[in-house]
Amino acid sequence: MKPRVALAIGLTAVGGVLALAACATPTPTPEPEVTFNMAMLSQFGTLPEEATPTGYELTQEIVDLGRMLYYEPRLSVNGQMSCNTCHPLNTYGMDGLRFSFGHAGDPVGRNSPTSYNAALHVAQFWDGRAADVEAQAKGPILAGGEMGMPNSDFVVGVLKEIPGYLPLFEAAFPDDTDPINYDNVGTAIGAFERKLITPGRFDLLLAGDESAFNDAEKRGLALFVSTGCASCHTGPLLGGTMYAKLGAAESFAGSDLGRFNVTGDEADKYVFKVPSLRNIGQTGPYLHDGSIPTLEDMVRIMVRHQLGKELEDNEINDMVLFLRSLTGEVPADYIARPELP
Ligand code: HEC
Ligand code: HEC
Repeated sequence: MKPRVALAIGLTAVGGVLALAACATPTPTPEPEVTFNMAMLSQFGTLPEEATPTGYELTQEIVDLGRMLYYEPRLSVNGQMSCNTCHPLNTYGMDGLRFSFGHAGDPVGRNSPTSYNAALHVAQFWDGRAADVEAQAKGPILAGGEMGMPNSDFVVGVLKEIPGYLPLFEAAFPDDTDPINYDNVGTAIGAFERKLITPGRFDLLLAGDESAFNDAEKRGLALFVSTGCASCHTGPLLGGTMYAKLGAAESFAGSDLGRFNVTGDEADKYVFKVPSLRNIGQTGPYLHDGSIPTLEDMVRIMVRHQLGKELEDNEINDMVLFLRSLTGEVPADYIARPELP
């Protein structure tokens, strides 16, 4: 086994916890035991119940309209594809395919990430090119390779022809004189997504219930912190807070330039948003190109290519068990398919 120098770093990251500071001796012992300590949890914070928006209020009316539009196939050019086609809410917000198929049957260019908890991310898409879920939602409807609508006026026209939508838009946007407009479509869908949050056992642990995890899961969590995973996969979602290069420590073959396409900055080549690890056991295949089918392989790749380290098989197993423990509860009532007007 390699000496785990990272342990000292991992523990220091918990900062200010006296009991742990004592362990951070200047010369690390060759094989420090990776032990779980409830104090390390404070770095993850707390999962909020919703991603509260700025600029408007999450009223019942706006959320209910957003749910309908999320499930609305008439927002696609062939009348058959909705957000829920590629991000099915009853299967953790993704379809399990390497690449989803657009309205014309062609595969899309990147793996579909889950729509659960996405509203809490620092920005949307693998490369962060949309600022928030409201802006994001306006993209796929008009994307030629996805829902394929010709332009936003056309979308608005379709919605205006469905008589039942006018009172719903009026109730959701009471201050607007012409409430059926494309911005409001994005806002309503985004509003609905802001409550697609999936708390689970990890949150019981974060709240102090040590019995929420078994020993292997606790070892896996301790390793996740001590190995350095939590330096990128930060916060209550274990991700979604920052960008990082795929292949930060050792280059990783790939052709997608990631965030470089957004910023044009050389330093952003192969940089992607660090994904959330919530429900990660349910949302494979992995990476922006869906190239990695199993969580075991995914952990090995991260250990080597993001951190330049190695772990024993039993340690990988513990880490995978920890990652699987991040599966939360899908809000069954909230996502129930609504009757469309
Ligand atoms: C044809 C499949 C498809 C459809 C339909 C679709 N999406 Fe997506 N969605 C994707 C793909 C692929 C990505 C990632 C694209 C990228 O990052 O470049 C994505 C990204 C997202 C993200 C960003 C999540 C994150 O972690 O950054 C959200 C949120 C989202 N979609 C919601 C929606 C909503 C809302 C709709 C309906 C208006 C929708 N999608 C329709 C395939 C689809
Ligand atoms: C230097 C930052 C960094 C570190 C450290 C890091 N990751 Fe990642 N991780 C990323 C980025 C960036 C991606 C997305 C890359 C992509 O899709 O191209 C990712 C993707 C993943 C995924 C796949 C997520 C998905 O939805 O496809 C898993 C699982 C994962 N990391 C687990 C880990 C584990 C476990 C560790 C520690 C061994 C770790 N990561 C360390 C940045 C990091």
